[in-house]
This record gives sequence, C-alpha cells and structure tokens, in this order.
Amino acid sequence: MTSEPLRPDDFLRLDERVALVTGAGQGVGARIARYLAASGARVVVNDYFADRAAEVAQSIVDAGGEAIALACDVSDFASVSSMLAQAEHELGPVSILVNNAGNAGARGTFDSMAIPFWESDPSDWQPFLDVNLTGVMNCCRAAMPAMVRGGHGRIITIVSDAGRVGEPSLPVYAAAKAGAAGFMRSIAKAGGRHLVTANCVSLSTIRDSDAAADPEKDARHLRDYTIRRFGTPDDAAGVVLLLASESGSWITGQTIPVNGGYSSAL
Ligand SMILES: NC(=O)c1ccc[n+]([C@@H]2O[C@H](COP(=O)([O-])OP(=O)(O)OC[C@H]3O[C@@H](n4cnc5c(N)ncnc54)[C@H](O)[C@@H]3O)[C@@H](O)[C@H]2O)c1
Repeated sequence: MTSEPLRPDDFLRLDERVALVTGAGQGVGARIARYLAASGARVVVNDYFADRAAEVAQSIVDAGGEAIALACDVSDFASVSSMLAQAEHELGPVSILVNNAGNAGARGTFDSMAIPFWESDPSDWQPFLDVNLTGVMNCCRAAMPAMVRGGHGRIITIVSDAGRVGEPSLPVYAAAKAGAAGFMRSIAKAGGRHLVTANCVSLSTIRDSDAAADPEKDARHLRDYTIRRFGTPDDAAGVVLLLASESGSWITGQTIPVNGGYSSAL
C-alpha cells in the first residue's frame, strides 16, 4: 500500500508540455487555452485573427501562465508548418494539439447555409471542408513528427453533434466534422505505438453567456437537452484537459459527447 499523499490534481498537470490550441482567439478555444495554461502547459494561442490571439495570450500571461500568440489560417498547410516551427523555436516541440478552429459557415456565421442543400452552390461547400476537415489534417501532419520523435502526443479535435446525428441546415459542416472524427480514429490507430493518442470531443450548442438571443426559440431547443441548459466553454475545456493529461493516456480513438444529454445524440 502506497503512503503517497492524495493529490488528484497531479494527474492533470501538464508542466513542461507545449500545447497548441487552434482558433483560440475566442469562445471554446480561448477557454481551453486557459485551462491548459492553468495546468502548467506552455500554450500557443492560434487564431486566424492576430489581435484575438494576442489578447487571449496576454490574458493568460497576466494571470501567471505561459503563452504566445501565433496567427495563421489552419486551412493553409505552409502557414501551419511555419507556425509549428516557430512554436518549437519559442517554446519547444508541441506535444498537445487541440484542433478547435472551426467554422459552421463560409463567413463565420451559423446560418449562411440556411437554404436547403439542394439549392446550394457547390462553391459554398469548400470553406466548410477547408477549416473543419483539411485544417485538422494540416495541423496533425505538421505536429505529429515531433510527437512521434518525442514518444508523447495528445491530439484532441473538437467536432459537433451535427456530424453525429445530422443537422438539416448544416449538411456540409456536419459532413466535415464527421470526416474529422473518422480521420482521428485512423490517426489513433497509427499513433498508438508512438504513445500518441487521438480523440474527439463532440459538442452540442455552447453559449458563451446566459444571454438568450431568442428566449422562445431557446426554450423549444432546450427541450431536447436532458440537462436543461446550453453548454459553456468550461464544459468543453474540462474534458479536453482530461484527454490532454496523464489521466487520458489510455483513451484513444474515441469521440466523447459533451452535450447535456442532447436527446437526438444520446
Ligand atoms: N459553439 C457551439 O455551439 C459549437 C457546437 C458544436 C461544435 N462547435 C465547435 O467548437 C469549436 C469552437 O467553437 P466556438 O463556438 O468557440 O467558435 P467561434 O466561432 O466562437 O471561435 C472560433 C475561432 O476560430 C477561429 N478560426 C476560424 N477559422 C479559422 C482558421 N481557418 N484558422 C484559424 N482560426 C480560425 C475564429 O477566428 C474564431 O476566433 C469549433 O470547432 C466549432 O465547430 C461549437
């Protein structure tokens, strides 16, 4: 019987690890970056928008953590490769990759595909695939060599219940997210013997604040949730931290729903 003191938080420590969180300039990604930094990781805050990334990185530094901001578009492989090289130069090799950058609409909105799929133009589809699927592949391709070399890696991709159960207004986004989850299962199988894990966290509706944009519509929507509230960035970040930590070292190839018991996705 061990006489070591009980300190469960040790199992979530990420000291000396370098973590990259994409699309971390706001929302879920910003909260994930903060959780990882709070657990001791040196965090690379990525976003397409440099000012957003800089603000989040500064807020982490102001709170006593270690973070730098590196802006780039994850859908561009050359930029992603340069970002990984710069991250390694400034902080060390990235061994935790959180593919959070995502976009439910070509212009960053959630309703730009609010016409039926059969009326959409094929040129509308590509932006969804570029960020939500190709972006994940780009980041894995650029980050994995260092993980394999170092014999340690955690890859966590944020997907959507739209991809697990379908979403009529977002069919291409849903397909891209389902594709990313499928890709991660193969990466898990390829990475396992190098001690690189690969998992997805699948979210339903996340709100940054309790402010209801349309209370009646929200109330209807919430009937589908066993736990009658929308999710928060904290709900997502806690699970990501677990998967990134030593406690997550035997979880791989999984898609973990974080969705308040969303009924169409149970
Ligand atoms: N919010 C939800 O209800 C919800 C539900 C299911 C899944 N998700 C997924 O969770 C993740 C985070 O969602 P969120 O609500 O925080 O999104 P958000 O739109 O608030 O933030 C996403 C961030 O990603 C950045 N980004 C977009 N495209 C990028 C690119 N090509 N390269 C780099 N950065 C880019 C944006 O600039 C933005 O700062 C996304 O993958 C999203 O698809 C969100």
